Amino acid sequence: MENQENKKRMLSGIQPSGDLHLGNYLGAVKNWDEMIDQFDCYYFMADLHSITVRQNPADLRRRSKTQLAQYIASGLDPEKCTLFIQSHVHEHAELGWILNCYTMFGELSRMTQFKDKSAKNTENINGGLFTYPALMAADILLYQADYVPVGEDQKQHCELTRDVAIRFNNIYGETFKVPEPFIPKVGARIMSLSNPVSKMSKSDPAGCVFVMDKPEDIARKFKRAVTDSDTEHCVRYAPKEKPGVSNLMQIYSSVTGKTLEEIEKEFDGQGYGALKPTVGDAVIESLRPLREESERILADKAYLESVYTEGAQKATYVARKTLRKVYKRVGFVEKPF
Ligand code: TRP
Repeated sequence: MENQENKKRMLSGIQPSGDLHLGNYLGAVKNWDEMIDQFDCYYFMADLHSITVRQNPADLRRRSKTQLAQYIASGLDPEKCTLFIQSHVHEHAELGWILNCYTMFGELSRMTQFKDKSAKNTENINGGLFTYPALMAADILLYQADYVPVGEDQKQHCELTRDVAIRFNNIYGETFKVPEPFIPKVGARIMSLSNPVSKMSKSDPAGCVFVMDKPEDIARKFKRAVTDSDTEHCVRYAPKEKPGVSNLMQIYSSVTGKTLEEIEKEFDGQGYGALKPTVGDAVIESLRPLREESERILADKAYLESVYTEGAQKATYVARKTLRKVYKRVGFVEKPF
């Protein structure tokens, strides 16, 4: 591992509660690898968070490993950053409990993710779903992270993490670095192919392209992509008036690097019919090496295990140091063994 000492530390996690899709990839993971040279990066599979919603155990296990393979395949070189599985570093659960005691009922009650998820999931509104942000604060504060790259939907949790860190520091003295949310400059917001006014999501499989989808499935999903019913019929970027076409253009731009203006020119005089298969093919070609490399890594069990073993060891080393400090500050008796 190269010298990371002078770099600012960055940390992020993805819940292995669904298979990685084009929205996750283009919006987040694809940009992470550009950050690993600049920052000392920690990326983890947030399996502890996943079980706030009921999971099938075999699927959860498979997805944690698949996701790790996908991270590596998309350029997160384990030699240059720390990749681990959250449950392997028990300090997360321990600090999570402690921070629960410094996070207010009122604060947790205001979290929009809790309100949304509990409204959708009325038969399983469990305590973990409610205290989820305290665990997320632990994830971040354990590593004294400077930056947390997150999407819009996690900004409120990052704000709460800052508030909890400041509160703890005020009571006990400087203990935690107060992290900044990091909103990447690049990173597209990809919408559903079947309903382009909402975000691409695994809960809408027809409009969602998974990284591991077969080429023929990707082609079919793009062929059926919803375009707009305006009369203009030209390929023009206008997210409000033409959400379907604009989303396809955004996807095309993200995978090819072409600008939106270049794309408008490329399709000048052609209708939506030409756009859909072209974008589909471009996505197929850009995901192909990622899927093949992910499958190759996934088949190499010993390698994958060595990555998450080393990652957990390295993460544990950092996490333990913070946790020890916290235990001392709150007044726990030092463990003699
Ligand atoms: N809550 C995040 C999400 O659902 C995942 C997550 C868990 C996370 N712990 C984190 C993200 C720490 C950033 C930092 O997307």
